[in-house]
Amino acid sequence: MSKDKVELFDQDGRSRGFYSGRNRLNELTGKEWVYWSKSVINRPYPPSLQHRLRSRHGGQKPPELCADLIRLFTKGGGRVLDPFAGVGGTLLGAALCGRQALGIELNPEWVRIYRRVCALEGLAEQRLECGDSRDKLRELAAEGLRFDLLLTDVPYWQMDKARRSTGAFKRVGEAQRPRRASKLQAFNDREPRSKEEWLEGLQAVFAAAISLLEPRAYLAVFIGDMYHGGRLHFLSADLAAALQDLGLVLKANLIWYDVSKSLHVYGYQYEFIPSMIHQSILVLRK
Ligand SMILES: C[S@@+](CC[C@H](N)C(=O)[O-])C[C@H]1O[C@@H](n2cnc3c(N)ncnc32)[C@H](O)[C@@H]1O
Repeated sequence: MSKDKVELFDQDGRSRGFYSGRNRLNELTGKEWVYWSKSVINRPYPPSLQHRLRSRHGGQKPPELCADLIRLFTKGGGRVLDPFAGVGGTLLGAALCGRQALGIELNPEWVRIYRRVCALEGLAEQRLECGDSRDKLRELAAEGLRFDLLLTDVPYWQMDKARRSTGAFKRVGEAQRPRRASKLQAFNDREPRSKEEWLEGLQAVFAAAISLLEPRAYLAVFIGDMYHGGRLHFLSADLAAALQDLGLVLKANLIWYDVSKSLHVYGYQYEFIPSMIHQSILVLRK
């Protein structure tokens, strides 16, 4: 065996495979690297870390999935930035894998919930700034902060704020209900904006965030496609194009197949409408 390879073991003493000292990206073994190079993530992420409390948000991500992504794109002690932190999926994930994270969240309610989760779980809080990323990122730049990874989950385009996306159709066996207002306010409480305005707002935040990333750092960005007004909106492709316009290089479109999602059958016997049980994780590099 070459001298720069070392066998690693998990907490139960099982072999994780061999780590190469030449690995410049992460601390995964060869076996783990191959596993995480798959373009589909179908691992189950059961509810954890005060899931019910965090569910008040509605768009929260599993901290263990965030930890898996952070392990893939950073080494131990790496610094992670999340400019749309919500109730802290990225921050909790960073704590689970021994990295530091800094989040920014507009809504004070989500900041309070993150802090409450940390207290209930006995986890050390990561730095979470309450405010608009477009202002906070400028302040962080003035502090001279630098990050190894940007992991985030962008605020949704509010096309669904007023009306259900499925028009006349309903779930099988279910009465038509008014759609609740989106909990994932995009940028502010104004009426729904056009897709172009939504993309421009995201570009402004990413442009500011990119300047805080180390050269050649990775970005991993959750984004879900949406069905609205009788058509699919390929938001992952729209966002990928907008981020490439900022000079980022698109490396992958990982599909997170969320095995916990229940099927919502719309349009049965009338029209094919997909039941969205996946999200994209766009991987880009500075
Ligand atoms: C999809 S959610 C993130 C959820 C997060 N991944 C979690 O696990 O809780 C996006 C968040 O971005 C926040 N947001 C929207 N515009 C913002 C802005 N300009 N600055 C900071 N946060 C913003 C929203 O309040 C929302 O909580």
